[in-house]
Amino acid sequence: MAMILDVYKCPKCGNVMTVLNSEVPGTPPSCCYLRDPNDPADLDRKERVTMAKLDEKSGDVLTEKHVPFIEKQGNGIRITMGKPALHPMLADHYIQWVEVVTKDDRSYRKFLLPGQQPIASFEVKLDDVARVREFCTLHDLWRS
Ligand SMILES: [Fe+2]
Repeated sequence: MAMILDVYKCPKCGNVMTVLNSEVPGTPPSCCYLRDPNDPADLDRKERVTMAKLDEKSGDVLTEKHVPFIEKQGNGIRITMGKPALHPMLADHYIQWVEVVTKDDRSYRKFLLPGQQPIASFEVKLDDVARVREFCTLHDLWRS
């Protein structure tokens, strides 16, 4: 069953979604039609592709550029993907979003664009952070 804040990806089109409610009938979620658009005999086919739940990958924050590096910044936190060598922020490979989940189940997300730095600041106390996740357009979901 899909759980709140689970992240799913369509293996056909690459669409990514975050679950905002649980206990939805028919989960896991589905996306594209399986039918072949070039086959007229396939037009009535109703089956859809089942989206794949993305694992939250992790690793050594000092060597793995995808693992969010969290540090205190004033009254909040600063998150860097790749420290000291930053994760690439190219058109075909970049950190698309960074999310902070707090111990009281709040979720804060910042979206990034190619060319920006893979760094995000949040007005969240370091002690309140339960986990930080980021989504790479090429390497999917990571957490610290
Ligand atoms: Fe990446």
